[in-house]
Amino acid sequence: MRTDYLKQNFPFTHRNLFLKLLLTLFFLGLAFRILFFHSLSPQISPVLESPFPEKVTLSQPHNPPHTSALSQSVSEPPPVQERASEPPPVLEHVPEPPPVVEFVSETEDQFSPTESEKCDYFNGDWVRNPSGPAYTNESCNLIESHQNCLKNGRPDREFLYWRWAPRQCDLPQLDPQRFLNMMRNKAWAFIGDSISRNHVQSLLCLLSKVEQPVLVYHDEEYKCKSWNFPSYNFSMSVIWSPFLVKAAIFEDINGVSSSEVELHLDKLDSKWTDQYLDFDYIIISTGKWFLKSAIYYENDTILGCHSCPNRNLTELGFNFAFRKALKAVMNFIVSSNHKGMIFFRTFTADHFENGEWFSGGTCNRTAPIKEGEMEMKFLNQMLRDIELDEVGKAVSEASKNGVNFKLVDFSALSQLRPDGHPGPYRQFQPFAKDKNAQVQNDCLHWCLPGPIDSWNDIIMEMVAKG
Ligand SMILES: *[C@@H]1O[C@H](CO)[C@@H](O)[C@H](O)[C@H]1NC(C)=O
Ligand SMILES: *[C@@H]1O[C@H](CO)[C@@H](O)[C@H](O)[C@H]1NC(C)=O
Ligand SMILES: *[C@@H]1O[C@H](CO)[C@@H](O)[C@H](O)[C@H]1NC(C)=O
Ligand SMILES: *[C@@H]1O[C@H](CO)[C@@H](O)[C@H](O)[C@H]1NC(C)=O
Ligand SMILES: *[C@@H]1O[C@H](CO)[C@@H](O)[C@H](O)[C@H]1NC(C)=O
Repeated sequence: MRTDYLKQNFPFTHRNLFLKLLLTLFFLGLAFRILFFHSLSPQISPVLESPFPEKVTLSQPHNPPHTSALSQSVSEPPPVQERASEPPPVLEHVPEPPPVVEFVSETEDQFSPTESEKCDYFNGDWVRNPSGPAYTNESCNLIESHQNCLKNGRPDREFLYWRWAPRQCDLPQLDPQRFLNMMRNKAWAFIGDSISRNHVQSLLCLLSKVEQPVLVYHDEEYKCKSWNFPSYNFSMSVIWSPFLVKAAIFEDINGVSSSEVELHLDKLDSKWTDQYLDFDYIIISTGKWFLKSAIYYENDTILGCHSCPNRNLTELGFNFAFRKALKAVMNFIVSSNHKGMIFFRTFTADHFENGEWFSGGTCNRTAPIKEGEMEMKFLNQMLRDIELDEVGKAVSEASKNGVNFKLVDFSALSQLRPDGHPGPYRQFQPFAKDKNAQVQNDCLHWCLPGPIDSWNDIIMEMVAKG
């Protein structure tokens, strides 16, 4: 499986003292960088993840103040042109024979020949899709402005003409009519951060070809929302809970933080747990927010912190907190009496190149890349390893308890799509006034339409197969 492949590539082993030393140095360097950056621009929260407001606002009237000096560095790897000469569309419907090795490892399990039932949807390729996306900015009015890349003036179109093709089976595109028929009287929830909202918008746009969803609930900041498809009595909710555990977040609407996050690693966020049993299908996710400066609590007592140089507290590392929080979430899921289907979606890494979000990083590629062409960044890989470890254990525990809990691992397939992000086109016509304008890039969220639509093709198949 692809995940194992990635795991093996991860260079860190716990036994290797030399690497541990390197790691320590790395974190010291990182802490220094964060500190340095913090003191340079105190108005910006010292995070490594998205600086993007979690609120639904229209294009910002001004450029953020921090996108300047470091931006234009020299060597951008050449855009991948070879992809344009993929096999013609006819061949796409013939699934490639699965690699022999994988069949061997599958058949060594006790599973018998129903191979067609058992498909690794996450092992595949991006293939050309001449028919293009199932919706556009014209047909769907639910696209958040920051992800409405076409409307915002993104000039290239090639990124729209790909679809994900697993190697072991055929993956049809989501059939919205079939989906809605299956979901009569059902309730779905997406739980997580702004990528979950990005994901739900993709699904809403795909389904809106059959029926326009009606917004039936939103909180004050439009972070939590629910829609209904009236003819189907089908409801879809998105619940904003970026840590999944109880958190006090001190950020204004522009993502500028005034203090460290206070994170209770042993208490789940009741925003989602209170409603947990009301949903038939749940897609839950977390990750990136754990990289932020935070103070960690257990039993209401401070344990330590991450990236908090001004506090007299023990630096515990975000990985400590991430594992502990994830264990609490997994424990809840495994021991819940949920009768529906629960998916854990792995987090998907950003594609900032030649810098990070705060230092002029960009993502201006226009086509998918080949496997291995762009390695996942070190911190992302750390999050990912913890995630696969904890969720993997929980999936097997859950099946013993009769809980239908599945891992949806979009990390590797998303890693191949650096072309799928808004980049500068998170803002409306960013270069209209000045073609050399320095604008904040978004290389984390996904353009709609875009590669994220394929996530729903896969989920549809997994739901249909139960
Ligand atoms: C959709 O995007 C195109 C540019 O690709 C733009 O001309 C058009 O106004 C947009 N339509 C809407 C409804 O946003
Ligand atoms: C609509 O669906 C909900 C479950 O999501 C169910 O409780 C309710 O009874 C349904 N309403 C009708 C009229 O069938
Ligand atoms: C929190 O409480 C639990 C059970 O009461 C205990 O096992 C654990 O050690 C406590 N943790 C801390 C940091 O006090
Ligand atoms: C930092 O904490 C330690 C132990 O909690 C304490 O002994 C020390 O006085 C503290 N230092 C400052 C500057 O507050
Ligand atoms: C892409 O961005 C890099 C800087 O990150 C720049 O050097 C390069 O010229 C850009 N390419 C295009 C086609 O705009």
